[in-house]
This record gives sequence, C-alpha cells and structure tokens, in this order.
Amino acid sequence: MKVGILTGGGDCPGLNAVIRGVVTQGAQFGYEFVGIRDGWKGLVESITMELTTKEVSGILPLGGTILGTSRTNPFKHEGDVEKVISNLKALSIDALVCIGGDDTLGVASKLFDRGIKTVGVPKTIDNDLSGTDTTFGFDTAVSIVSEALDRLHTTAESHHRAMVVEVMGRNAGWIALHGGLAGSADVILIPEVPFDMDEVCAHVNKESREKAGKTSSLIVVAEGATPRGADGVVTQQKGVDAFGHVRLGGIGEYVAGQVEEKTGIETRSVVLGHLQRGGTPTAYDRVLATRYGVKAIEMVKDGSFGNMAALQGGEIVEVSLHVATGTNKTVDMELFKVAEVFFG
Ligand code: F6P
Repeated sequence: MKVGILTGGGDCPGLNAVIRGVVTQGAQFGYEFVGIRDGWKGLVESITMELTTKEVSGILPLGGTILGTSRTNPFKHEGDVEKVISNLKALSIDALVCIGGDDTLGVASKLFDRGIKTVGVPKTIDNDLSGTDTTFGFDTAVSIVSEALDRLHTTAESHHRAMVVEVMGRNAGWIALHGGLAGSADVILIPEVPFDMDEVCAHVNKESREKAGKTSSLIVVAEGATPRGADGVVTQQKGVDAFGHVRLGGIGEYVAGQVEEKTGIETRSVVLGHLQRGGTPTAYDRVLATRYGVKAIEMVKDGSFGNMAALQGGEIVEVSLHVATGTNKTVDMELFKVAEVFFG
C-alpha cells in the first residue's frame, strides 16, 4: 500500500505531529509513503518528497509543516482535478491522507465522490470544523492569546488605557471566546453575535470602570466580528486568497477608534495575527494530533474512506467528510453566556 500525505490551508501547530503519527504507525503496517508538497498544488503539479520514518523523526514539537502548504483548490481551476487524478495514478498512490480545514477537506470529500480513496484529519486553529469537538492547533492558539492578554493587562493597567486585541476567527469566535475567557477579557466580540458599539462602550467607560474598581479594559475581537447592521466584515484591500476568501483584518483598529471617540479613554489596538499559528504545539495538541494521525492510517487500513478522524467526548471516532465540511461549527452560546458574566 502506498499512501500520499498532504497538508493544506493555513499552517497550524501540530501538523508535523499528525504526519509523524501517520507515518510511524503506517510503517508498522508495512506501508510506503509519499509526501505531497504544498497541499493540493503538489498533486496538480506532481511535486513530492520522500517520507519515511527518518523524515518524521524529531518533528513532533516542530511548528508549521515539513510538507509545506498552500490554498490551491483544484476544483477552482479548469483541468486541475483531472491532473490530480492522473498524477495520483502516475505516482501509484493508493490512498490519500489529507490534513486540513473545511476547504482542504472539502476537496478531499469531492475527490472521494470521484473514486479517490481519501481520509481526512481536522486541522484549524479556528476550531470551526463540524463533527469534531476540537481541531488540533486550537489549544495552542488559545494559549497564545491567553498569554498575550496577561501581558496586555499589565500595560493597560499601568496606563489606565483600553486595549483592543484582534484575534483570528473568520466564521466562528472560538479563539476569541476561549482566549478571552482564559485571559479575563472585559468584552468579547465574535462573528456569531453582531455587536452594538454603544453597548461595548457601556462596558468599558469611566462609570463602568469605577463600579468594577478597574482602571483599564481589555476587549477581544475576532477578525470576523461585525457591528450590528454593518454591511459585511472588515477586510484588507488586498483581494482574496486561493480558496476565494477575502483577507480579513482591521476590525480591532475600528473598535479601538470608536471606543476612544465615544468614551474619551485612551485606547490602543493589537493584532495577534499569525503569532497564533506559528511555533510549537502545546502538549494537548501534540497528543491530539498524534491520536488523529494514528487513527487516520488505521482508517486507511480498514478501508474507511470518505471519512475524517474526529474527537467526540474524549474518544477518537470517524465522521463523514460530507458532514465535517457541510457547515461551520459556531461557538457554544452557553459558553458565551458564561463569558458575558464577566463583561464590564
Ligand atoms: O487558518 C484559518 C485562518 O487562521 C483564519 O482565521 C484567517 O483568516 C486566515 O487563516 C488567515 O490566513 P493567511 O493570512 O495565511 O491567508
């Protein structure tokens, strides 16, 4: 059995841990591996690398992906799907382990419908894939946000300022919600709940601070959050990525400007950006990614194609790629209510 492995979409802490899990367990099954370079681009252009237990030795704590990644989507370019299928044949690849978020796994799902033996592994710091309690990389991103908030609290307090922290989260506010709860945010703004600027200001104005005995305020805003009644998300004027998503960014600066104007409190904004994705995974993500990797190659062995390894109630299970990529998993509103207890 010859198995191809690819990583697609934004990079994510734990990708290498999954690759190591797949290859180490697969080698014990007697399987051979082909590393596909840069996601689906590597299959469109047939760019591969050697992938044996030697290449995966020592990569568990490494951030990024040794295979490289891209947002290439073969279904978006005429003729690319045919190239993927013929390259798989030319490379004698029997099955494909695809590690990615909804876009990458959406391609894996459609290829499965065309007879390609695909298995998925749920990756994204955004934690917005359906069918799984958690994606790997999310815990690391939340830890980074929580640590950043601890640091920002002390500088905000010293200057009696408001700080607005923009975090990732295109369609779902998981990072903002968990990071903000862990880092004791005074307000958390998420894509699922359009916000009212006057209500935000009421939580952080001088009266509210006095009542709470605080001298500073911290607002966490997901990049996909929008003011109530706004016409779409705040974006950078730089077009779309290869998956067709607009490049988000700027909501933090907008909120900071409004808070300063409406409350008179000196306000600064910080964008955590790709710091949330880079570097070594937490111990939790290393273990989760390893479990996903081992499960994925077991699924190949069992012939369980068209499915994704998933975490449900502590158990690693299998869910259909159709289900996983059908809709985004948005935040648990019960948890948002818990966060609201601490607003102001
Ligand atoms: O991986 C998803 C994500 O983290 C989104 O939250 C964010 O909008 C996007 O990646 C940005 O990625 P890039 O700048 O690499 O295109």
